[in-house]
Amino acid sequence: MDIFTLTNKNGVSTKITNYGGIVMSLNVPDKTGQFGDVVLGFDTVEAYLKPHPYFGALIGRYGNRIANGKFTLEGKDYSLAQNDGPNSLHGGLKGFDKVIWDAKPVDTPDGSALELTYLSKDGEEGYPGNLLVKVIYTLTHDDALRIDYTATSDETTVINLTHHSYFNLAGAGNGDILDHDVLLNAARFTPVNETLIPTGELRPVSGTPFDFTQPAKIGLRINQDDQQLKFGLGYDHNWVLNSADGGLALAAHVSEPGSGRIMEVWTTEPGIQFYSGNFLDGSNVGKGGKIYQHRYGFCLETQHFPDSPNQPNFPSTVLKASQTYTSTTVYKFLAA
Ligand code: BGC
Repeated sequence: MDIFTLTNKNGVSTKITNYGGIVMSLNVPDKTGQFGDVVLGFDTVEAYLKPHPYFGALIGRYGNRIANGKFTLEGKDYSLAQNDGPNSLHGGLKGFDKVIWDAKPVDTPDGSALELTYLSKDGEEGYPGNLLVKVIYTLTHDDALRIDYTATSDETTVINLTHHSYFNLAGAGNGDILDHDVLLNAARFTPVNETLIPTGELRPVSGTPFDFTQPAKIGLRINQDDQQLKFGLGYDHNWVLNSADGGLALAAHVSEPGSGRIMEVWTTEPGIQFYSGNFLDGSNVGKGGKIYQHRYGFCLETQHFPDSPNQPNFPSTVLKASQTYTSTTVYKFLAA
C-alpha cells in the first residue's frame, strides 16, 4: 500500500492511496487563502483496513444498491452478497474500495495525475466477466480533482463506478454540514422503499424537501415529516440530473458560508446520490483525532441510478464485451 501526493501550481494538494483508490486528503484554500482539508478520512492507510463507511474510496463494480443482491443478465441469474439489509451495496463484501490497485503517477498538461488499474476477475463478488478498470485522478491547475473512469469486460456485465469522498467545506471534523448551501441540477429524484431501493418512479422535486433547484441549506428541511426523508434518515437518494446527453455538465454546487469554500460537481453521469452522512455516529475517529459525528460530512456520488440491473426503465448499466465504459466526474474548488 502506497500513498501518492499530487500538488498543483496553486498549492492545492491531495493524497491518494492505491488501497481502494482512497482519497485520504484534499487541501484547498478558503476565502482568506488558508488551506484546509475538506475530506473525511484517516491519517494512515492502515486505519482504512478497519470497518469504515467508504471514506474517500472508489466504488465498484456496482456503486449503490442492487435489490436483494440479485439480477438477471442475458437469461442468467446472478447472486451477490447481501451486505446492506437484504440488498447488495457498493460492490459487495470486498468491493473496489478494498482492493489494491496498480498505481502509476503521470504528469499531464492539465496537472499531475495518478493512474490506477485493477482487473476484477470473472465471478469476483458474483459478477460475470473479467473487468479491466482504469481510473485516473488528475489534480488540475484550475483546482479540480477530475476522475476519469474507463473499463472493458470480456463478457456482458453490469457496471456503475463512483467515488465516495465525504466532504465538509469547513474542514474535516469541524462540525456538521447542515449549514452548507446545496444546489442540485435536477428536477426529479428516484424515491425509494424502506430498504432504499428505487420504486421506479421519477418524481418531480418541486414542492418537496428534495427541491435543490435553488440553493438551500442541507439542514433547512432535513427533519421535515416526509416519508422519503424517514426512509433515508435524511438525504440518501439519487437525483435525476437534468442534463442527459452524456456530456460533462454541472450536477451540483455547494458552498459553505464560514470558509467561503465552494465545490462544483460536474459529471457525464445521469444521476447523483446526495447522502447527508446520516449514518455517521461518532464511532470513527478521523484525522488529527477528530471525531466524525452525525452528519459531519456529505457525499455526492455521481452514478447511474440504484438497482438499474432490475429496473428496465432506468438508463442501462449493462456493459457488453465489445464496448468501453467511460465516465468522468470533476470536483472543482473555488472560494469567495
Ligand atoms: C449510501 C448510504 C450508505 C453510505 C455508506 C452511501 O452511498 O447511499 O446509504 O450508508 O454510502 O455506507
